[in-house]
Amino acid sequence: MLIAIPDLIDAPGVAAIRAIIDAAEWVDGNATSGHQSALVKRNMQLPEESAAARQAGQMVLDALGRSPLFIAAALPLRIFPPFFNSYAGGQAFGLHVDNAMRMLPGTGMRIRSDLSITVFLEEPDAYDGGELTIETLFGVQQVKLPAGHAVLYPSSSLHRVEPVTRGRRVASFFWVQSMIRDDSARQMLFDLDRSVQGVAADLGQGHPEVVRLTGLYHNLLRRWADA
Ligand code: NI
Repeated sequence: MLIAIPDLIDAPGVAAIRAIIDAAEWVDGNATSGHQSALVKRNMQLPEESAAARQAGQMVLDALGRSPLFIAAALPLRIFPPFFNSYAGGQAFGLHVDNAMRMLPGTGMRIRSDLSITVFLEEPDAYDGGELTIETLFGVQQVKLPAGHAVLYPSSSLHRVEPVTRGRRVASFFWVQSMIRDDSARQMLFDLDRSVQGVAADLGQGHPEVVRLTGLYHNLLRRWADA
């Protein structure tokens, strides 16, 4: 599933993040990529260990923690520290699939990428190109969202970033290991969660059928979740 998270970060939040990362030193994006990605990746990136990346990354993580839509859609178990990248002057990232496993820096712990996230940090009219193009079961989707909005998509998808031919595209991107590994199971839980909330709004939170459906949600989560 491909889910947009509107207004994940508000305008002052985006400005604060941009102030931190725009003042920092950027490096060639291939510093962090796997062998195959390096063949098609042309962009700039904040060094992942830099103070700016850590500080701005924490602001992105705090915003995710405040987003009920993100929590319900991703059911996160582990979240990789956010990276930041930029594209300008024709830079692009050709068709690729994200690495399945990554080492969490400084922990020796592996994280499986179930979901990829891009948080847009520049307004779409400030640059040409730069669409995130994702191959889905329902065809190719092109995503270019306002600053502060995010998109969540399965890390198993082939995707690319189109060349940026004017201005500069700035974004944060990272991965989530979900409690629910299977994309379709996670989608069903998300749909059930939304339906329960809709029914609760009509019948009231304490209605016996709402209680029963809430129980069904939790029992499916208990059956399927890694923790
Ligand atoms: Ni990617």
